Amino acid sequence: MTGPSEAGPAGLRAHVAAELDAARRRSLDLLAPLSEADLVRQHSPLMSPLCWDLAHVANFEDLWLVRALGGDAVGADHDHLYDAFANPRAERPSLPLLDPVGARAYLHEVRGRALDLLEHAELESSHELLGAGFVYGMVLQHEHQHDETMLATLQLMDAPGYRPPHSSPSSPPRPSWHEASGARPSRQRTWVAPGEEVLVDGGPFLMGTDTHAWAYDNERPAHVVDLAPFRIDVLPTTNSQYLEFVEAGGYQQRQWWSDAGWAWRMGAGLDHPGCWRRHGAGAWSQNRFGWEEDLALDEAVQHVCWYEADAYARWRGRRLPSEAEWEKAASWDPHKGVKRSYPWGDHEPTPALANLGQRRFGPAPVGSCPDGASAYGCQHMVGDVWEWTSSDFGPYPGFRAFPYKEYSQVFWGSDHKVLRGGSWATHRSAVRCTFRNWDYPIRRQIFAGLRCARDA
Ligand code: AVJ
Ligand code: FE
Repeated sequence: MTGPSEAGPAGLRAHVAAELDAARRRSLDLLAPLSEADLVRQHSPLMSPLCWDLAHVANFEDLWLVRALGGDAVGADHDHLYDAFANPRAERPSLPLLDPVGARAYLHEVRGRALDLLEHAELESSHELLGAGFVYGMVLQHEHQHDETMLATLQLMDAPGYRPPHSSPSSPPRPSWHEASGARPSRQRTWVAPGEEVLVDGGPFLMGTDTHAWAYDNERPAHVVDLAPFRIDVLPTTNSQYLEFVEAGGYQQRQWWSDAGWAWRMGAGLDHPGCWRRHGAGAWSQNRFGWEEDLALDEAVQHVCWYEADAYARWRGRRLPSEAEWEKAASWDPHKGVKRSYPWGDHEPTPALANLGQRRFGPAPVGSCPDGASAYGCQHMVGDVWEWTSSDFGPYPGFRAFPYKEYSQVFWGSDHKVLRGGSWATHRSAVRCTFRNWDYPIRRQIFAGLRCARDA
């Protein structure tokens, strides 16, 4: 489980320690195959040097699991370098950063001190940071979120054939579906036609949460939202569906695009999703972590920006769902009138329910997680690809920034669009039906696609 344990203080303490350890192993394993030079180099001006991410993770833990809990700072002199606001990504390579050895040492030293403090931390208290282990959940999710960011950097990296540790030496990072997923092999998939929709009845539902102890401030408070009825796709948009838009000339036809989207599409010269390559008529490949593969037609499309998602939906005669619509379709049980933590219910994700945590290094074939369906029948809502919504990122009524306004509050407004549901690269502890991600509408190095909706 990822939420606070029912097992009392000792159980929660052990759970926190195990989850922190697993997060650290994930971070270090992802970067283990890279040379020192590749950890120091900036692979794209959109991203940090990987050793910045590493030391930033250490610094965040130094701030919140050491200093905020009364411990002595491990690296107070590093605070400025690893403050994301003080240093835009493009400028990070010119800073006097810790080298990879130094970054790992900083991680290690901070973790030692954090675990010492954890031994006596009063997790049952009403202390705002400590109660139910909140601050530990926050730091844990932060490290996993940076791991996903580092995966986006690795995808952008101009180096052939990244291979994670524990994979075979001559094959792509994607094991076959059977080995990787624990889900049903494809012949047992429930057959759903791409584009099949469900009707979500009109009426109120509960949006956000008051009860998930490790939820971020932007998910709170729970509040009733009354929606008109709408239809939403059972599946995320697939590469096959999106390819129809590309081949039909959708990128050349002004009418599908918003003004800002068209300006961006023209300026950036976009004519297909990121990582796709055309090899003559109708033949496409995709680059995955330096491996050139046939375009996987039955997987969710990814590496499309909001403008592309919006244009595609319009071409289909559809639109993006609002984030309230997305959350209702994912979480509301209309028969019981209760909200679920995950589409399938309240128990933690398993491989059969959702494709998370880079088990596949890519989205799963659509229809392969039928047990993960929501009460309304939507599949793949958690995992596979983040789904762009039509909504700007803003506060819920009664929002209170906690524990720091730079996590969410400084990003409110129309510059950022909300994404929901997590991707194949998201860790299970950093996604749930109420979880909100956000980014600029031009971003497409993230693992984001879409799901179409329309008025009923
Ligand atoms: C929630 C993914 C938009 O990467 O900017 C990491 C997560 N916040 N460190 C980001 C985050 C602080 C955040 N996103
Ligand atoms: Fe961060």
